[in-house]
Amino acid sequence: MTQETSHDAGPLVLLGPPGAGKGTQAKRIMARFQIPQVSTGDLLRENVARGTELGLAAKSVMARGELVSDDLVCTMVQQRLMQPDCRRGYVLDGFPRTAAQAGWLDALLEHELFDNSRPTRAWPIVISLDVDYNQLLLRITGRRSCPTCGRIYNVHFQPPRVDELCDLAHATRLVTRNDDRLEVIQPRLTAYQEQTRPVADYYAHTGRLVSVNGDLPVDDVSDQIYRVLDDHHA
Ligand code: AP5
Repeated sequence: MTQETSHDAGPLVLLGPPGAGKGTQAKRIMARFQIPQVSTGDLLRENVARGTELGLAAKSVMARGELVSDDLVCTMVQQRLMQPDCRRGYVLDGFPRTAAQAGWLDALLEHELFDNSRPTRAWPIVISLDVDYNQLLLRITGRRSCPTCGRIYNVHFQPPRVDELCDLAHATRLVTRNDDRLEVIQPRLTAYQEQTRPVADYYAHTGRLVSVNGDLPVDDVSDQIYRVLDDHHA
């Protein structure tokens, strides 16, 4: 697949339930358009691993499969979006996830629309990855990731060349995420239905939501997303 950087990607939001492929696609968009992936799940997990105040507050909430409070997450996202690498655009993965977060993001972007020093002044393109429920379960239970390079695998769909070892960071043993345990998956899916589905409805009502078929193989999902981005900038 060729690299495409002829236009700025602007802000992009990837919506979808746990296991939909947001992280997988965000990494591909990052490589293709050279804009950073801003994953609230990854940022929170980093904070948990470092034992920061935010990490301590988030740890037990995440382990139960519930959502971390809007205040904590929005503050964390604001700090991340102020970093210089976000100036050309960014792909939000896992944010916004509640109506309050969506309202907060709109207010932030509205402010930026009037800030001539920001080259990314635009409303985000919101892409929803629609995936069948049983496929989600297979994707979540089969997920493994590399603690060194962050690459995501799946024992059913994208297995590593050597069982349980990363293809890139050789000899690094792949890990299973703490919240991919069976007893945590259902609360995560419930949180999505109750708190995040209304966010998709909100973007649909404001005419900003584009749905893609997330059931397809990874390359085919990426192709749909690239088409949406190309059409948007045409
Ligand atoms: P987060 O890390 O955001 O988790 P999530 O939304 O549950 O999403 P996942 O990471 O599980 O799935 P994904 O869609 O990224 O799929 P992936 O690409 O990995 O959040 C974790 C927790 O943090 C939350 O529960 C909450 O507590 C907290 N949190 C985070 N953000 C928050 C916020 N904004 N507010 C409050 N709390 C927040 O793919 C899954 C698997 O499928 C992989 O194995 C992959 O290889 C495979 N796969 C991907 N695409 C395909 C395909 N097309 N075909 C076959 N397999 C595929």
